[in-house]
Amino acid sequence: MTKTSLFKTIIISMSISFFLAFQSGYIFAHSWEAPKKEAQRNNPTPFTPKSINNGKTIFIELCSHCHGESATGLKSEETGLEKNTGNLYKRLMSHSDGDFFWKIRNGKGEMPSFADELNENQIWDVINYIKSTGNKLEE
Ligand code: HEC
Repeated sequence: MTKTSLFKTIIISMSISFFLAFQSGYIFAHSWEAPKKEAQRNNPTPFTPKSINNGKTIFIELCSHCHGESATGLKSEETGLEKNTGNLYKRLMSHSDGDFFWKIRNGKGEMPSFADELNENQIWDVINYIKSTGNKLEE
């Protein structure tokens, strides 16, 4: 192998490794963000007890086994998932309703997509429920 072709091989394999790492989300593993336009979408459902209760029923049925009934997160030993799940209320406070709407619809990795299972109103209700769990932060 000549010096140039060795150099080329190294460059090519480095590019391939980078591409694969990028694809698998390894490099940006901590930055799952909705596209800006989606994140700016406003929650059209008023924050009412009716919406919160509806969201709670859905959350307990579909989400609590991975996120905990109060959305405060569970350890990986409790869920069998690769990582612990975080406190969704805290995450929501540094993100937006629109960001969560998009994530719940699309899913990523171990987080399933709920686009087929839940309609838009139901997803906004679930987000209102997550917002209502803020008072459980001290527990
Ligand atoms: C099979 C397990 C599982 C189920 C079921 C599940 N999730 Fe998740 N979810 C995850 C994992 C894993 C993550 C990424 C890690 C984390 O929570 O920090 C995640 C992430 C999220 C995020 C993004 C949080 C962030 O950091 O930006 C939201 C919002 C979310 N889930 C809401 C829900 C809702 C609402 C439901 C039910 C409709 C649900 N999830 C059901 C496993 C699950």
